[in-house]
Amino acid sequence: MKISVFGMGYVGVVCSACFARRGHQVIGVDINSDKIEAIRRGEAPIVEPGLPELLAEVAGKTLQATTDVGEAVRQSDISFIAVGTPSKSNGDLDLSHVRGVCEQIGLALRDKADGHIVVIRSTVLPGTLRNLVLPTLESFSGKVAGRQFHVAVNPEFLRECTAIRDFDNPPFTIIGADDDATALRVASLYDGLPGEVIVKAPEIAEMIKYTCNAWHATKVAFSNEIGSVAKIFGVDGREVMDVICKDKSLNVSSYYMRPGFAFGGSCLPKDVRALTYRAMQRDLQLPLLYSMLNSNQEHIRRGLDLIMQKPARRIGLLGLSFKSGTDDLRESPFVELGERLIGKGYDLRIYDRNVEHARMHGANREYINNRIPHLSNLLVGSLDEISDHAETLVISYPDPEFRSFLPRIPEGKTIIDLTGIEAGVQHPGYQGICW
Ligand SMILES: NC(=O)c1ccc[n+]([C@@H]2O[C@H](COP(=O)([O-])OP(=O)(O)OC[C@H]3O[C@@H](n4cnc5c(N)ncnc54)[C@H](O)[C@@H]3O)[C@@H](O)[C@H]2O)c1
Repeated sequence: MKISVFGMGYVGVVCSACFARRGHQVIGVDINSDKIEAIRRGEAPIVEPGLPELLAEVAGKTLQATTDVGEAVRQSDISFIAVGTPSKSNGDLDLSHVRGVCEQIGLALRDKADGHIVVIRSTVLPGTLRNLVLPTLESFSGKVAGRQFHVAVNPEFLRECTAIRDFDNPPFTIIGADDDATALRVASLYDGLPGEVIVKAPEIAEMIKYTCNAWHATKVAFSNEIGSVAKIFGVDGREVMDVICKDKSLNVSSYYMRPGFAFGGSCLPKDVRALTYRAMQRDLQLPLLYSMLNSNQEHIRRGLDLIMQKPARRIGLLGLSFKSGTDDLRESPFVELGERLIGKGYDLRIYDRNVEHARMHGANREYINNRIPHLSNLLVGSLDEISDHAETLVISYPDPEFRSFLPRIPEGKTIIDLTGIEAGVQHPGYQGICW
């Protein structure tokens, strides 16, 4: 394919050289003529292992470089935007380079036969393709996106210093596009590379890039805080983290990685609290670990807000224990949710067959009847009973009984799903907490 790449920075120059090595005809574009001259000479404008050798191999053959936007657009079928998206002083994303390059590409598209694809490779927040890139291209080209030209998002995952190896071994290739034909054309550029090609809506693709970086930052900060708190106990945090990473079922896995409701139970809150308290006693600040409990409280408040946004006063809570399949109510976020609802005068009923059983027979009987009589008195014996009572049904955790009850919930009711009970619920009154 004939490709133009706008922005010869770390991302643009590496992917230009790698596309050129794969046999595509590539034109690198930058406003900085020194970078263009360097690339023309086959010299790397940035420090990146392996890049000088690669540029020496492809420059002047499958890789050309220019400052002329019109020429680059005319001579290519697909344009990648890899300009910088730095921070503004207030932390917001500075999209001025993206806007500028879209204006230039748009003008160049005026005189070009239809069919060009513009792909945003720079890291941009969800909605940027649809709300900035696409309208800017349309207004400067006078053409219609989706008909006369096409747009896509294709975020970059390479790391400086291992950029060429990362290009050749992507964890996955993410393409955000509204039409399959455009996605397929972009995907074809990576034919034969490892990793799954995943096509999503543009906003999801944009969000995936931010989520990866936020996750990587969390991992670094988390490991540093664990290392620091381990040290006050005289423990080497490196040994601890080495072992942590061996657990591929709970620790380094997709477990606990689905958006849903707050954590609770007899362990997580207690143990995070103990660790951060002991660190505080030793004047060790652990802002990330410390913020976990605040974050959890904030999430409970969001759940409450979601329920309170509805005018309904009669609420049914499906599930009270801290998770499915247990009667354990210790630090259950649903107990807190229920208490706050009662406190605000809502007419609440609760269904939880495990807690109901424990109230009658189990070891928790005393706790349930004496410590939370205000909630245990609201327990009902069946899902039909709670559905008859409630205008809003709140699903706490993923229980097969709740799942099979979904089709029987009448259309006039509201369902607030705190857990992601199942994908694609069709009920008209359905609302999820994070989706
Ligand atoms: N650096 C990384 O490791 C990395 C990794 C993944 C994603 N990203 C993202 O990729 C994007 C690019 O990052 P980078 O580090 O390569 O940026 P960079 O600052 O190194 O390079 C950006 C280049 O764009 C050029 N430019 C600006 N306006 C232009 C225009 N109108 N036309 C042509 N060129 C223009 C600049 O002169 C500069 O050479 C950013 O959104 C960044 O967040 C970076």
